[in-house]
Amino acid sequence: MTQNIIVLKECAAQEKRVALDPLVAKRFSDLGFSVTVTPNAGKQAFFPDESYQDVAVKAPTFSENDIVLCVQSPSLETIEALAPNSILVGLLNPYQNADVVKALQAKNITSFAMELIPRITRAQSMDALSSQATIVGYEGVLMAASLSPRLFPMLTTAAGTIRPAKVVVIGAGVAGLQAIGTARRLGAQVEAYDIRPDAKEQVESLGAKLIDTGVNAAGEGGYARELTEEEVAMQAAALKKHLSKAHAVISTAAIPGRKAPVIITEDMVEEMPAGSVIIDLAAETGGNCALTQVGKIVQYNNVTISGPVNVASRAALHASEMYAKNIFNLLSPFMAEGQLTLDYDDEVIAQCLLTKDGKIVHERVRQTLEK
Ligand code: NAI
Repeated sequence: MTQNIIVLKECAAQEKRVALDPLVAKRFSDLGFSVTVTPNAGKQAFFPDESYQDVAVKAPTFSENDIVLCVQSPSLETIEALAPNSILVGLLNPYQNADVVKALQAKNITSFAMELIPRITRAQSMDALSSQATIVGYEGVLMAASLSPRLFPMLTTAAGTIRPAKVVVIGAGVAGLQAIGTARRLGAQVEAYDIRPDAKEQVESLGAKLIDTGVNAAGEGGYARELTEEEVAMQAAALKKHLSKAHAVISTAAIPGRKAPVIITEDMVEEMPAGSVIIDLAAETGGNCALTQVGKIVQYNNVTISGPVNVASRAALHASEMYAKNIFNLLSPFMAEGQLTLDYDDEVIAQCLLTKDGKIVHERVRQTLEK
């Protein structure tokens, strides 16, 4: 029997993305699935209902074995409406979403959290954290440039020469590296800072200079670990000097499953040049700047501090296209003739499996939620 794929309409505030764009929806349909898109699901990403020409656009009715796709986790009411044993795939944010995980467990849903996909080479094309972080890094620089009272490039004009803006990027992961590239393309002079030793080569390959604070804190799986008090002090002393000359700071530092580290303190902001701008891309997980207010742009002395939320939605069209491809690359290897036959021994499937058969299967999530 043909399986249904259902695309939900997102319900989270400020969420403009959609889990499938028309092209990828067609690709699933070509694999023999019956695809249903909830009316207006793609509207805010500029995929109107008429653009989903090859699939059904109608209010979904849920039945067993449905494959339900979302960007952010659905509401508890929607989870309640799903049929037991259906499959849910999305950025379910499991460490911060205990209610949702418990509802999925109680309802017997087989759920997959896209953020738990391992950062291995084979899974790069499925890595939604990376695809969305790419957009976040790019948008972060555009926000900085538009809030800044300065221009970013060096300009030699009849009215004088303008020096290039100095941009500091904190956290040189996927978003940070994209921010470096974007700021460089706008002509800024870029310095970057990270505590992973691999970051040096990555930062330099993009033409930026790495700020060396003497702290090296590689953790598990290529991620950073939390710093000791002594390391935080070393980091602060070195960074303060660089921030006192920065015209724009883009901060992206994060530790998976934890609150973002506070790296930019009040006294560092006090030393920054008048008119400088901080775009705190870690605002949603606590912020890298002590003065960040989530979802707001605030002034402190003469510095503008922005803590934007759901930055990927600012480029909702491309963000949705990339996210849809990530989902397609995750599921399609297990699809044929309208049927999904997952291999639960597959490393990627096993690691992003969150709940199944009434259990929280992901060990680390289970332990975190039980604390
Ligand atoms: P993330 O979003 O978890 O963190 C962003 C950056 O903040 C990281 O580079 C981290 O080292 C840095 N950071 C954390 N605490 C910091 C502190 N106190 N001070 C300064 N920087 C701090 O990271 P993201 O972007 O998800 O990437 C994590 C790692 O995974 C990277 O090594 C990246 O290259 C790797 N990766 C590998 C992939 C693959 O091979 N398939 C795909 C994507 C990422």
